[in-house]
Amino acid sequence: MNEQLLNVVVRKRDIQGVDVVVLDLESADGAPLPRFDAGAHVDIHVAPGLVRQYSLCSDPNDVRCYRLGVLKDPASRGGSQAVHEALLEGREVQISAPRNLFPLAADAQRSVLLGGGIGITPMIAMAYVLHQQGAAFELHYCGRSRSRSAFLAELAQAPFASRVFTHFDDEGLEQRLDLAKVFGHAAPGTHMYTCGPSGFMDWVIEGARQQGYAEDHIHKEYFQVEVDSSGAGFEVVAARSNKTVHVAEGQSILDALAGVGIKIEISCEQGVCGTCLCEVLEGEPDHRDVYLTEDEKAANDQILVCCSRAKSNKLVLDI
Ligand code: FES
Repeated sequence: MNEQLLNVVVRKRDIQGVDVVVLDLESADGAPLPRFDAGAHVDIHVAPGLVRQYSLCSDPNDVRCYRLGVLKDPASRGGSQAVHEALLEGREVQISAPRNLFPLAADAQRSVLLGGGIGITPMIAMAYVLHQQGAAFELHYCGRSRSRSAFLAELAQAPFASRVFTHFDDEGLEQRLDLAKVFGHAAPGTHMYTCGPSGFMDWVIEGARQQGYAEDHIHKEYFQVEVDSSGAGFEVVAARSNKTVHVAEGQSILDALAGVGIKIEISCEQGVCGTCLCEVLEGEPDHRDVYLTEDEKAANDQILVCCSRAKSNKLVLDI
């Protein structure tokens, strides 16, 4: 990747809830940071070869600081552990400019934000913006318990605190998230946004569908996906490079292409961010990402090569 990176310094670090580190990053030279849109994330270059994406959760209008929250996940591929161990106060680190794959809809008349666990982070930035716009919205924060959850103090003091509703698994039934109530009577023009563990998101999205939400009013950002790379081998033809490569069982298309010198830009390597999108000229992809919509997947004319495979024996890509 040859994008311009930003040098930032960890100005403040705070452990909140259980295993969540909240980091305030400031520009290393004291200059204002680029403005970002609510829902954006940055790539953090945690260590050589270790790049991870984290949503920004500060007020997008505050260009002095980017805030993000990182849950230490023992099941992760090492990124969150490294962030917890290495990003101490005063440490300089490189990040990408903010990128937004999870924007607020410009025409929403009402917004329902639902964050599960650490998935609350992009919702906080969205809430700041919606509040500043004077928009109608509510923010639902679900977690296993109050004591495990980060950002509660900030949300309690936020200018939009009256629109924040918390729901914890170990508290009374009366405070549990009632999807029929939250999504019921959805006025046309209501958009919903969700981020969190995939089980939580699937449940919330299904709840919205059952209440008649149109697909383009359902906005989602997965932050952790298990990549399933099982399946038989197949052939990939890189049409513009005039190269053919065999993708072995358990190997990604990305790795097979790298083996013949074809480099594809990547970021998450989990089918989440869309960076590695390639056009399909022939053949049928076996989509395993969570980035493309169902309609886009059905069209079979694009593929995310970090995680998806082929149903046909051969795929021809426009690369
Ligand atoms: S690199 Fe993120 S979807 Fe492939």
